[in-house]
Amino acid sequence: MTRPIRIAPSILAADYARLGEDVRDVVAAGADWIHLDIMDGHFVPNISFGPDVVKALRPHTDAFFDCHLMIAPADPYLEAFAKAGCDGITVHAEAGPHLDRSLQAIRALGKRAGVAINPATPESVLDYLLDKIDLILVMTVNPGFGGQKFIPAMAEKLRRVRALVGDRPIDIQVDGGIALDTIATPAGAGANVFVAGSAIFGGGDVDAYRKTIATLRANAEGAVP
Ligand code: DX5
Ligand code: ZN
Repeated sequence: MTRPIRIAPSILAADYARLGEDVRDVVAAGADWIHLDIMDGHFVPNISFGPDVVKALRPHTDAFFDCHLMIAPADPYLEAFAKAGCDGITVHAEAGPHLDRSLQAIRALGKRAGVAINPATPESVLDYLLDKIDLILVMTVNPGFGGQKFIPAMAEKLRRVRALVGDRPIDIQVDGGIALDTIATPAGAGANVFVAGSAIFGGGDVDAYRKTIATLRANAEGAVP
């Protein structure tokens, strides 16, 4: 069963002085989800924003808020992000010792549960979680910063994740270095949700966002096997 292609701009690359307008603009330009990169300066060597910013952005759009928690520990903050308006909450497999419990806690909050795996983490970490997740995020860069280069070796991991998922209703997401010239590789390997920060927000206005999102979508659709 092929899952719908979704383009998820990461506001990590947006204008922090006008985040609400940028969110409205990318949704108007055709974005399916808004990807919110939460960084704590501990799990990753960068600090971004927290639940209060998510809460402030929530009234600006009905679009799906896809919250990527690059924080450790994550469990103490799940409820705050759920209450702030996240629709999906993704935790890193590497962020703590009780991943199964974290995923159950996210679903108990009524949110879609996602697990992210860093480039060096094998997909086998997913083996006993497939009935507890709605999304798998295969990181295609080492997390912490936008504007990095897509890691080509992740295509093989995506193919293995795709095989693992089979017909289950699980989205396969990629994040990092996704741009017009790289998106076909993960799309051809099984991804259906594409996070892009600098490739989209580098454009600067709604018309540029619309063109980039449409071309990303076309390039992804054209590569689906
Ligand atoms: C982790 C972040 C970034 C960001 C995407 O570092 O999750 O990957 O979303 O940034 P770009 O699209 O600029 O590589
Ligand atoms: Zn992310």
